[in-house]
Amino acid sequence: MRIGVLTSGGDAPGMNACVRAVIRSAVSKGHEVVGILRGYQGLLEEDFFRQAEGEPLMKLRSVSHILQLGGTVLGTSRSELFRSEKGVKRAADMLRKHRIDALIPIGGDGTFHGAVELARHWDGRIVGCPGTIDNDLLGTDYTIGFATAVHTAVEAVDKLRDTAESHERLFLVEVMGRHSGCIALWTALAGGAEVVAMPETHTDVPATVEHLIKLKARGKKSIMVVVAEGDELGGAVILNEKLRLAGCPFDTRVVLLGHLQRGGAPVPDDRILATRLGDFAVRSLDEGADGAMAGAVSGELVLTPFEETFAEHKAVPQSFLDVLRTMAN
Ligand code: F6P
Repeated sequence: MRIGVLTSGGDAPGMNACVRAVIRSAVSKGHEVVGILRGYQGLLEEDFFRQAEGEPLMKLRSVSHILQLGGTVLGTSRSELFRSEKGVKRAADMLRKHRIDALIPIGGDGTFHGAVELARHWDGRIVGCPGTIDNDLLGTDYTIGFATAVHTAVEAVDKLRDTAESHERLFLVEVMGRHSGCIALWTALAGGAEVVAMPETHTDVPATVEHLIKLKARGKKSIMVVVAEGDELGGAVILNEKLRLAGCPFDTRVVLLGHLQRGGAPVPDDRILATRLGDFAVRSLDEGADGAMAGAVSGELVLTPFEETFAEHKAVPQSFLDVLRTMAN
């Protein structure tokens, strides 16, 4: 079998570990692997990985020492052209032209939407791996890159706590997550934040200010408010304004972590998840799977149809919110 592999959408730490796993697993089973550069856009432009000697197939050694690297050695993109019917048809033509039998796209919901469209014009098989820091896909407990993004955000919160405590300030720390509060909630819990604001919950500004006044009266010197960029109020800058206008008792500062969270070496959990899922995707293709994402649920490796991975909003655990509130009191 000739397998194409690509990374698409926002990069995520651990994508390289997943690419490595796909190649090592596929080559060891006697398959050929074509590395497609720059996601679906690279496929449209026939931009493929080549060895120094011009050899187009990826070998075991093509992926030496990339396990520990952040970013993606294949490159990535959010392709406008691929979103059109014309683009998808052209992508299908490219896969046929290069005699690719199966595709492993590594990415998030946009990548899997693309896979569903592609399957309407191409009869090869597709099994994807969830690579996104957002952890917003159903069919897996965690997505590749989420653990590292949270680790990075928690390190930042820890550092900000030092200066917040010295100056008796409140910091609003904005983390990524356009539609999901997972990064925010995990960061808030691990960073000991007093408040979290995210798309899944309503942020009651007057009630929050009341809570802050009580905390200050109790001698609390510093406050961490973790805000998901997709919070319904519009992010940390706006929430800061609203808190100030509502009488926030602390001097405030805003820090936007932004793309910092997407970089850096993947933490061990991401490397292990990526390795298991990359290998599982290849084994699943071998067994005839198609149209599904490889995921890990309660430790078990499972396949979930692409459409189901993004059909509904992945809920954040209520128990995490409850314990955060208990801790913050
Ligand atoms: O989907 C991953 C993600 O990092 C989101 O959390 C964020 O909103 C978005 O990508 C940022 O995208 P871009 O890199 O295109 O600015």
